[in-house]
Amino acid sequence: MTFGGLLVALYVWKCLMLVVFQNKIIYMPSFPPNSRSERIADYAGQQCGDIAWADERTKAADGTDLAMAVTTVPLPKGSRRIGAGPAADSDGRQPKAHVYILYFQGNASSIPPRLPGLSWVLRAVSDSKAIDLSPMQLTFVCLSYRGFWTSRGRPSENGLRLDAEAGAEWISRYHKQKYGDDSDLPVPILLVWGQSIGCGVATNLAATGRLPTSLPIEGLILETPFLSVKAMLETLYPQKWLPYKRLWPFLRNHLDSESNLGLIAKRCREDGKKLPSIHILEAERDEIVPREHGDLLCQKCIDLGVPAVRDTIPVAFHNEAIARGDGKKLAANAILQLIRRALDSS
Ligand SMILES: *[C@@H]1O[C@H](CO)[C@@H](O)[C@H](O)[C@H]1NC(C)=O
Repeated sequence: MTFGGLLVALYVWKCLMLVVFQNKIIYMPSFPPNSRSERIADYAGQQCGDIAWADERTKAADGTDLAMAVTTVPLPKGSRRIGAGPAADSDGRQPKAHVYILYFQGNASSIPPRLPGLSWVLRAVSDSKAIDLSPMQLTFVCLSYRGFWTSRGRPSENGLRLDAEAGAEWISRYHKQKYGDDSDLPVPILLVWGQSIGCGVATNLAATGRLPTSLPIEGLILETPFLSVKAMLETLYPQKWLPYKRLWPFLRNHLDSESNLGLIAKRCREDGKKLPSIHILEAERDEIVPREHGDLLCQKCIDLGVPAVRDTIPVAFHNEAIARGDGKKLAANAILQLIRRALDSS
C-alpha cells in the first residue's frame, strides 16, 4: 500500500516536472556548459575554410536582443568581390539574385561550433559549377534564439517565433540597405534551413510568421526533422505503463511541422502565392527521430501538392548529419536545387 502510494507519488512528481520544465528539457541552451561563451574567433580561419563570419545583432519584436553570425559568399566563386556592394561584376553584369539562407539550429550548443560544418557546405555551394547564371551572392544568417549563445532572454516556442521573424526582418532591411528601396534587381531569394527542433521553428515561420511581403520563403531545408513534440513524446515513451505521452495537452511547445505543412499549403493557395519547396535531409542512423517521421512528412507534402525532395545522409546520427562528408555534399546540393527552382520560377 505504502509502496504503491509512493510509486504513484513518484509518477505524479515526474509528470509535473516534465510539464513545468518542458522549456528546459526541450531547448538546453547551456549544454554543453561553455555554449554561451563560445566565440566566432575560436573557429575562424582554416576550420571554417577561410570563410569569414561576422557577429551581428538584432532585436525581436518584444525587444529581446539576439546574436547572429553572418557571412556572404559569391555565387559562383570568383564572380564578384565579397562585400563589394550592389556594383556589377567585371563584365558589367548586374547580379540577378541575392540568396539568403536563414539558419535555425538544433536544441543544444550554440552557433560558433556549427560554423565549420556550415562553412564547408557554403564552400561547396560557392565552388559548384551547377549555377552558371549571372553572378549572385549568398548571405548566410545563423540566428541564435533567445537564451542561446549571447542572445538575451529565455527560450520558449512563442519567443522563438519572434526570433525567427526578427531574422527575416533583418534580412529584408539588409537587402534594402544594400540595393536601395525600390530597386527590383537583384531579387532576394529566401531559403530557411532548420536543424532538428529548428525545423519546427522554420515551419512555424513559414506557416504563421509575419514575413516581409517582399521576402517570401522560396524553400525550406529540414535537417533531421520530426513531426511534432507530441509525436516525439510517443516515440520516446512508447511504453503503455508510462504516462508521459498522455501529457501532450499540457505542452506549451508544439514545434509541429506536420500541421505547419498544411497551414503553409492553405495560406499559399488562399493568397495565390507560390508554394515553397521542401528538401528533407535525414540521417540514416538517426537515434532520436525514427524514419517514419520523415516518411509521414514526405507523404504529407505529396498529399498537399507541396514540392518535396528527400535525401538520406549515409551513416550519420541525429546531431551530426552535416558533420559527415556526404552530409555536406547533400546539404550543398539541397541549397543548389532550391536556388535553381526559385530562379526557374521567378
Ligand atoms: C538535445 O540535446 C541533447 C544534448 O546534446 C541531445 O542528447 C539530444 O539528443 C537533443 N535532442 C534533440 C531532439 O535533438
